[in-house]
This record gives sequence, structure tokens and C-alpha cells, in this order.
Amino acid sequence: MKNILSIDDLTNDEISAVLDNAARIKREGVRGTELAGRIAALLFFEPSTRTRLSFASAAQRLGMGVIGFDDPATSSAAKGESLTDTIQVVQSYADLIVLRHPRAGAAHEAAGVAAVPLVNGGDGGREHPTQTLYDLFTVRERFGRLDGLRVGFYGDLRFGRAANSLALALARFGAEPTWIAPADLQPAEEVVAAVRGRGAVTATAERLTEVLSGLDVLYISRPQRERWPAALAAEPAPVTRELLGRAPEQLLVLHPLPRTDELAVDVDADPRAGYFRQAANGVPVRMAVLRHLLAG
Ligand code: NCD
Repeated sequence: MKNILSIDDLTNDEISAVLDNAARIKREGVRGTELAGRIAALLFFEPSTRTRLSFASAAQRLGMGVIGFDDPATSSAAKGESLTDTIQVVQSYADLIVLRHPRAGAAHEAAGVAAVPLVNGGDGGREHPTQTLYDLFTVRERFGRLDGLRVGFYGDLRFGRAANSLALALARFGAEPTWIAPADLQPAEEVVAAVRGRGAVTATAERLTEVLSGLDVLYISRPQRERWPAALAAEPAPVTRELLGRAPEQLLVLHPLPRTDELAVDVDADPRAGYFRQAANGVPVRMAVLRHLLAG
């Protein structure tokens, strides 16, 4: 049985096939009933807008039914039920489970007892593999390739799971990550080691202005204050339209959203802003993910 707990659960060929399939879905406006009669359970133990709603939309566009909860306070978790007990029950109600959980490692624990495919919709600060798939899709759609691209990760790179998962994936496709953050928010050593271990050329910087002119993609990560051990002294300066005055014309600005102060609203009017297109790509990419896991 296939699960997607980490982006590393997919080979490069599988990733390329999912992205190709998503491109076809997007181009042809695919809707249908090919997964009719199947049910997706969306179990969200942590807040979400994009992941939950775009999975629900993707499932319904393929004819699936959707069940689940978006607030654990309304589930039996509030009575003290363990995650593994919840999963062992829900797997008999659904053909696939998407789980979001505040604890790193929760998706692996859940998959250990699930008899249906399990998708990690974000677990703690660790991974968010389907976000990565549509991030890759959005970059590939814009540049036609991933290899050799210089991707600057800016903001909270220690607790931001979307940035972690994407760096791991880009390293496998020959892109070159630059981590731009104050020391407290630089990625964890395991992430840096894993990315370098894949042969990626990497760089680090404290300030965006030091490296901005050499980037193809700027990927902004919100300060994940809900996961910070205490208030951190150095917070990244906001990306503004004025700051982008010093950036290449071809730059692609991405952000998994939601944004807070790290990305000024005036950037939205800049043609380099790609984050709303990125969010929209979540639906065709998640449709391709559902097909990958359930069809055939
Ligand atoms: C991200 C997440 O939840 O990790 N959001 C998302 O799924 N698009 C990013 C974030 O919360 O900063």
C-alpha cells in the first residue's frame, strides 16, 4: 500500500509523473466520477485552510465523498482517544486518510496502524509533502525545469515544514538552495545534512539583500510562532515591493500561505508574485495525488 508521509516516499520518476498528470488535469479542466464511491477522511488536528479545502475540492472533483473533522475539540480526541485508536476506526470508514497533526512523527505513527493510504498533510515542523508537490509544480510551470535553479528560502526555516520538505525535494532535482534567516531560524542540522547529502550546492545568508540579486525563486516561510520555544530576538524583515526593486525581473516569489507580516500586501501587484497561483495549483496536484494513490 502506498503512503505519502514524506516527499522521500516518492521516487523522482513518481514525482515527475504526478506533476505531469497535474498539468494535464489543469490544462484539460478534468472533473469526473472516476473515484466515485470512494471516501477520503480529512483528519485535521491543527488549523488549515488550503490543505483541507483543496484536498476536499480535489476529492470531490474526482467524484469522491469526503468526511472528517477540522477541529479535534469536536472529535473523540477531546475525550482522550489516542491518535492510533482514531486511525484504526476511521480506516474502516474511508479509502484514504489525510492527516494534519501538530506533532512531528504523528503521520508515521498513524501509518503504522492504517490499512488505507495515508497522506501527511503536515506534521509539526517536519514535513508537508503534498505542499512540496505543488511548490515543485509551480516552479516547473514557470521555468520548465528544476535543475540548476537558485532557490532562496527566507524566514522561519527551522520550524517551517513546507520549506523543509521543499528543500529536500529540490536537492534531488539539482536545484541549489540558499537559506536566508537569522541564526535562530536557520534550518535544523539534520535538514542541512540531508540536503547536502543529496549533492546539492547550498549557501546560507543572514539577510535577503546579500543574495537577492542571484535568485531565481524566493520562497518565504511565515514565522511559525506557534512552534517557537520562546520569543526569538531576531525576526526576519518583511519582503516588500520596494525590496523587490533590487531583485531580478524573472524572480518567482512563492509563499505556502497563510502570510502574516513577513510578506507585504503591496507585493501582490508585482508580476513576480506567484503565491496565489501556487495555492490554486494545490487542487490539480492533489487530484493527481489521489489518482496516484487510489486509481488503477
Ligand atoms: C503551511 C503549513 O501549514 O505548514 N500552510 C499550508 O499548508 N499552506 C505553511 C504555514 O503554516 O506557514
